[in-house]
Amino acid sequence: MKNFINLKDIPARDLRRILNDAKKRKKKRKKLNTLDLDNDKPLKGKLIIQMYEKQSSRTRLSFHLSIAQLGGGTITIKANELHLGKGGETLADTAKILSTYGDGFMLRTDSDKKIEDFSKNLTIPTINLLSPSSHPCQVLSDIFTVEEVKKKPISKLDICWIGDCNNVLNSLIATSVKFKFNLNVACPKSYRPPKFVMDWVKKNKRKVNFFDDPKMAVKNADVIFSDKVVSLNDKVNKAKKIKDFKNYRINSSLMKKTKKNSTIFLHCLPRGNEVSEDVFLGKQSKVWQQALNRTHVQKSILLYCFGKLR
Ligand code: CP
Ligand code: NVA
Repeated sequence: MKNFINLKDIPARDLRRILNDAKKRKKKRKKLNTLDLDNDKPLKGKLIIQMYEKQSSRTRLSFHLSIAQLGGGTITIKANELHLGKGGETLADTAKILSTYGDGFMLRTDSDKKIEDFSKNLTIPTINLLSPSSHPCQVLSDIFTVEEVKKKPISKLDICWIGDCNNVLNSLIATSVKFKFNLNVACPKSYRPPKFVMDWVKKNKRKVNFFDDPKMAVKNADVIFSDKVVSLNDKVNKAKKIKDFKNYRINSSLMKKTKKNSTIFLHCLPRGNEVSEDVFLGKQSKVWQQALNRTHVQKSILLYCFGKLR
């Protein structure tokens, strides 16, 4: 049994095995309907419990499909429907109950510590559906999309992030270390990633290139990523933060600063004002393919957790 909590803690070889498995599975589903099962039904008889402490559209729906296609079942619960916290039940007791009824537990939360505490008390795999420091399922799936669209291993591509240094970027940084790709980040100086993230990069003898000017950052970009300036439950002065990022908006004029004409744009959604409508809906944008691939890659993430990767 394995957990999928932070990409930095998962060996590169295993991440690559997940991507390879997802590629094979996706190919085999070409003629199948949304709810048709994969032939081998590897999660037959398994119940995966999903818990959300904050909003989600894509993660909950794509995981519902991932689990269904693997032949398993899922139930989605909201934190305020449990005894945990409000009703006075301890996390350890809740974890014991989740492990009694379920075969896997997935959590979206505002507390990294809560995911760690659950993983220590559960006897079933734990999957991080987004935490303040990490969005691992999103980013591994995004690596899949990049390689699918560009038809090249990510290590041969120049990747650029314009915008807030948030959970999604932290996970992208982790993959830049694992898969050894060049990563440029443009953001205001005072919003750069936390020290613990950059210390880990240094410890692994890799680097991330930071730019104040987004035009410089995108020069050689094969892929430009962005995300909302103000994340869900981001406890900041929103108006100030949006103002601080006003020069980091991705519009057609910034897209034209790339030397390559095949540069693609990716965004995990939901979106805000950080990207113009014409870029988001334009030819270079692969955001819908990116959203669809969540289903495929998450299937292989589940199989990794259950020791069933082929
Ligand atoms: N990209 C993503 O995780 O979307 P949701 O918040 O809708 O799940
Ligand atoms: N950074 C965003 C990602 C949403 C999928 C957030 O945490 O809200």
